[in-house]
Amino acid sequence: MTALPPGPGEGGGPSAAAIRAERPGDAAAIGEVTRAAFSEVPYASGTEAAIVAALREAGALTLSLVAEEAGRVVGHVAVSPVEGIGPGWFGLGPVSVRPGRQKAGIGARLVRAALERLRAAGASGCVVLGDPGYYGRFGFAARPGVGFEGAPPEYFQQIRFAGPAPEGRVRYHPAFGG
Ligand SMILES: CC(C)(COP(=O)(O)OP(=O)(O)OC[C@H]1O[C@@H](n2cnc3c(N)ncnc32)[C@H](O)[C@@H]1OP(=O)(O)O)[C@@H](O)C(=O)NCCC(=O)NCCS
Repeated sequence: MTALPPGPGEGGGPSAAAIRAERPGDAAAIGEVTRAAFSEVPYASGTEAAIVAALREAGALTLSLVAEEAGRVVGHVAVSPVEGIGPGWFGLGPVSVRPGRQKAGIGARLVRAALERLRAAGASGCVVLGDPGYYGRFGFAARPGVGFEGAPPEYFQQIRFAGPAPEGRVRYHPAFGG
């Protein structure tokens, strides 16, 4: 019998994950991937899975995309509306990739898919709170004029698709607990 290639979550090379919108029945797997991904992040609040669930409950998941490999959810990105910097702005995150499948390009594909969909839908732009070393590759950059309470300025980044340069203090959906 031929040896099977490594399964999802068992290491292995570049991902052929399919990126698709969340479907009914995905919520538990998304929660599991989110919890697993953030359990390895020292500065994480541990509430990321609950935030995604609360956004879903509130009908505030503008985008909820999963990466699926061999029928298994291995990654997820959430996008929700933000306030305080003008109409049509959204917040990216949480973004999660299952430990063991990280660094295979899945996170990048999820982020790019989310940005493409936002742009195609006519969004003004998107903000993200995260490491500039990661998010810079997608076109996110910290710019004066837009801030987020408690975040070091270089970690709060934006990408603008249309409309005037935003200005103000960003407020995320109450599901974030802010
Ligand atoms: C961050 C995360 C979503 C990236 O997904 P991924 O599929 O592993 O990332 P990709 O394969 O697309 O990209 C890998 C690259 O990102 C870098 N990278 C991954 N996480 C990073 C981080 N927190 N800061 C800076 N760079 C990071 C890797 O070093 C690698 O760099 P390289 O391309 O220069 O080699 C994933 O690592 C994860 O789930 N982390 C835990 C949860 C988290 O921190 N989420 C983000 C905050 S909302």
